[in-house]
Amino acid sequence: MAEKSKILVIGATGYIGKFIVDASAKLGHPTFAFVRESTASSNPEKSKLIQSFKSSGVTLIYGDIHDHESLVKAIKQVDVVISTVAGLQLPDQVKIIAAIKEAGNVKRFLPSEFGTDVDRVHPVEPAASNFGLKAKIRRAIEAEEIPYTYVVSNGFAGYFLPSLGQPNAQVPPRDKVVILGDGNTKAIIVAEEDVATYTIKAVDDPRTLNKILYMRPSANILSFNEIVALWEKKIAKTLEKIYVPESQLLKNIEDASPPMNLILAVCHSALVKGDATNFEIEASFGVEASQLYPEVKYITVDQFLDKLA
Ligand SMILES: NC(=O)c1ccc[n+]([C@@H]2O[C@H](COP(=O)([O-])OP(=O)(O)OC[C@H]3O[C@@H](n4cnc5c(N)ncnc54)[C@H](OP(=O)(O)O)[C@@H]3O)[C@@H](O)[C@H]2O)c1
Repeated sequence: MAEKSKILVIGATGYIGKFIVDASAKLGHPTFAFVRESTASSNPEKSKLIQSFKSSGVTLIYGDIHDHESLVKAIKQVDVVISTVAGLQLPDQVKIIAAIKEAGNVKRFLPSEFGTDVDRVHPVEPAASNFGLKAKIRRAIEAEEIPYTYVVSNGFAGYFLPSLGQPNAQVPPRDKVVILGDGNTKAIIVAEEDVATYTIKAVDDPRTLNKILYMRPSANILSFNEIVALWEKKIAKTLEKIYVPESQLLKNIEDASPPMNLILAVCHSALVKGDATNFEIEASFGVEASQLYPEVKYITVDQFLDKLA
């Protein structure tokens, strides 16, 4: 059997990055975590995380995406680069692209995506600009002819389910629930552990080369109303439902300050426009993860809600 690729995770100490590092190590890939030295020394929570990487046999590489030499040196040691940077660092991924070109050895680059398909969405601002940054990175990768996989994981379970999408809530509602739009649009929710497992399984898979890897596990393609109904069953109670029509949601987005305006605009794209599910995956551009890897026993929304009930 071919040897497993060596994987570098840039953004290893981030929210989704740590799941990716964990899955990479668990699936037997020599794993390298690209970490800023300042983070390792000054952030107690993150230094604990870094210690846990070390105990799982992960190799730590200190660097910064703004330090070209450190990037090239790290990239030369691996076969696959996965970026999980966020926010301001999304456009800075052109620096990773430049380093990959210089290093010349990378078999696959997975830029920071982990959301909806940014080439097939219908967002309003500020989500439109945010998605546009990811699309721009896609075009830069393609222009440089770097082998890639774009990971369209859809919504993270840990982001949406613990509050059932209620702004500023820490637990799911037990009296009333605010539902965006009419609640009938199909969305897709995937647990972070499964996002990471599917991502790592894809890195050495020729079927995902220069393709979009969509995560659409069938049990987790649900509307807001269906998710609420599952929750109501768990708590044996009917919630009062407050529907926010699209026109009101658009006004709320305009009136909200960052980051709430971005969160609401992303929710509008996924939960009202249906941007996760309103197109078919065609073989020319994409593949679906749960079909490629049926052996992954993914966490269903139903199982996730069990833990919260
Ligand atoms: N689908 C969903 O529901 C969902 C939800 C959230 C995020 N996402 C997506 O997931 C991706 C990652 O987001 P996240 O929330 O996991 O990110 P995050 O928690 O903010 O983590 C960002 C990572 O980038 C690192 N970083 C920042 N500046 C750096 C630099 N100059 N050099 C090297 N590393 C640097 C950070 O390191 P430090 O630890 O040193 O700061 C951290 O490890 C994004 O594309 C985001 O849009 C999707």
